[in-house]
Amino acid sequence: MKPKVYVTRHLPEAARSELAEVCDVEIWDEEFPPPYELIMKQIKDKEGLICLLTDKIDANLMDHAPNLKVISQVAVGYDNIDIDAAAERAIVVGNTPEVLTDATADFAFALLLAAARRIGEAVDYVRAGKWKTWGLTLLLGQEVHGATLGIIGMGRIGQAMAKRASGFDMKILYHSASRQRDVEQALGVEYREFDDLLQEADFVSLHVNLTAETHGLINARALELMKPSAILINTARGSIVDSDALYWALKNGQIAAAALDVTDPEPLPADDKLLDLPNIIVAPHIASATTTSRTLMAQMAVRNCTAGVQGMPLPFPVNTV
Ligand code: DGY
Repeated sequence: MKPKVYVTRHLPEAARSELAEVCDVEIWDEEFPPPYELIMKQIKDKEGLICLLTDKIDANLMDHAPNLKVISQVAVGYDNIDIDAAAERAIVVGNTPEVLTDATADFAFALLLAAARRIGEAVDYVRAGKWKTWGLTLLLGQEVHGATLGIIGMGRIGQAMAKRASGFDMKILYHSASRQRDVEQALGVEYREFDDLLQEADFVSLHVNLTAETHGLINARALELMKPSAILINTARGSIVDSDALYWALKNGQIAAAALDVTDPEPLPADDKLLDLPNIIVAPHIASATTTSRTLMAQMAVRNCTAGVQGMPLPFPVNTV
């Protein structure tokens, strides 16, 4: 008998067939996430769960799955999963790092460029039929080359962002929980204390995990420290930024602009006040959304899952049991 696995969303065909070779698979093939109660019901007899960042996987849910051996997240971030509860129940958790690093950093840099050069506003301007002449002061933006980028969180994606920035001759500062001298040497980046980075940077890009410590990290106080010309880029998690404080800072010129791939709440309702502002770009959490990255993420999640249900070490574990 094959081990039973529940998958909370459609997977690319290559990943789906790889999973079906080893496991007896049940898939929620809808566009929207399955309700919490349905996941709870479905995993009652399952040994594996493949889930997305939109699924809340907590202790209560795990208690309804006595056979569960592995929770395999199709994402690098896993703040939707109670990792400690999983470890206490001897459930191993896996994620999908590395394969999305470059796609995510490409997108973060694209947001930086788009906000600096007001690309969203420019596209809207042309579509609205406002383009009547070449204007010397039309849609003036900010220089990117030679500017200072502050990277908060110097993991894989932060480092990939630094590589892109060095191609634009940017001065690169970083702040992270611990100083990384090897990275400083390799990438020519300079460490700063959190407040100093905020005060010096022309662009601040967030690349930390969402944890109790980073929740609301960019709050009213942090935004106050930033330059009035500064641009905030967030491709990490929405609730690292205090949305109300950001609204106030953008509306009152405390910072110049923001470009977000992630928001709090998520999805951001179309009538959210942030979307009334001209100086914000919001994308629907698509930084890793290339065909290649998303396919590799799904395959990696399948490999974590098939390893877990067979009692083997996961290729990409996030906890030890
Ligand atoms: C992740 O992997 O955590 C991203 O947010 C989605 O790719």
